[in-house]
Amino acid sequence: MKIIKTTSKLKHWLQKEQNGSIGFVPTMGALHEGHASLLRVARAQTSNVVLSILVNPTQFGDKSDLENYPQTLAADLEIAEKEGVDVVFAPSAEDLYGGSPTATKIDWGSITSDFEAAFRPGHFDGVVAVVDKLLTAVRPDVAFFGEKDLQQVAVIRKLAEETHPSVSIVSCDLIRDKNGLALSSRNTRISDSGKTNALELSKCLIRIASSADRVSQLEIERTNLTTNPNVELEYLNGVNEVSYSKSDLAESWTHIIIAAEVEGVRLIDNIRL
Ligand code: PAJ
Repeated sequence: MKIIKTTSKLKHWLQKEQNGSIGFVPTMGALHEGHASLLRVARAQTSNVVLSILVNPTQFGDKSDLENYPQTLAADLEIAEKEGVDVVFAPSAEDLYGGSPTATKIDWGSITSDFEAAFRPGHFDGVVAVVDKLLTAVRPDVAFFGEKDLQQVAVIRKLAEETHPSVSIVSCDLIRDKNGLALSSRNTRISDSGKTNALELSKCLIRIASSADRVSQLEIERTNLTTNPNVELEYLNGVNEVSYSKSDLAESWTHIIIAAEVEGVRLIDNIRL
């Protein structure tokens, strides 16, 4: 496994050493089983697997979230090696952006204005900026993203369609722990009792998905969570994974999505209908 820390060294690898298709898994590190599952799908589908690790400053609106973001490079490299990664690309933000990192405002309608976009202003501008730079640097045939960040998948599909049409975007299943909590690098910041409270998110998604009247059940769950002192609900909605437009028509929904804070840690989750 090669560790490459600059875009110029990556360019050299692409020109001189790489052979066959490239599968790309972009991450911010602090790898867990969710990331590992993407690496396994990439390993099965492409001949070279490139993993990138960069805590991208332009996608964090909240400075303390950026400062507290876990960094576990040694453990990440062990996971990468075990999953058969060929290249770990870990540039500095300045190297990748070619100077001070910045992001321009993106307007692709609901996918960049509602839900995650509304609660995290500027977040997708930063995601688009960094993934655009990464796709330009890595030049993959296929890039893999997790459905844990369902709205991010919609945004990346749009980015690929607009600026990287030769890259196929593959979305991969959301991975949970044995209790049902969606795996996230931020889970390390929640206490054990907080994790029990956080399980309310996936439990309420299951109840809505399995209800015969999803619209009414969603209302009930929203009311319950709003009055739950341990969970700070941001949104709970049914959406169509492509349009992301707000609709009360349950027939148009492909997923139920939720975002909430538990012990000050922001969690997102979703369930496919
Ligand atoms: P990060 O949060 O590190 O996630 C990297 C990839 O792993 C994303 O595609 C994410 O959806 C996927 N992932 C995380 N948890 C998962 C889980 N429980 N199940 C399945 N997949 C999971 O997403 C980002 O980084 C950044 O926004 C990035 C795209 C790298 C741009 O900076």
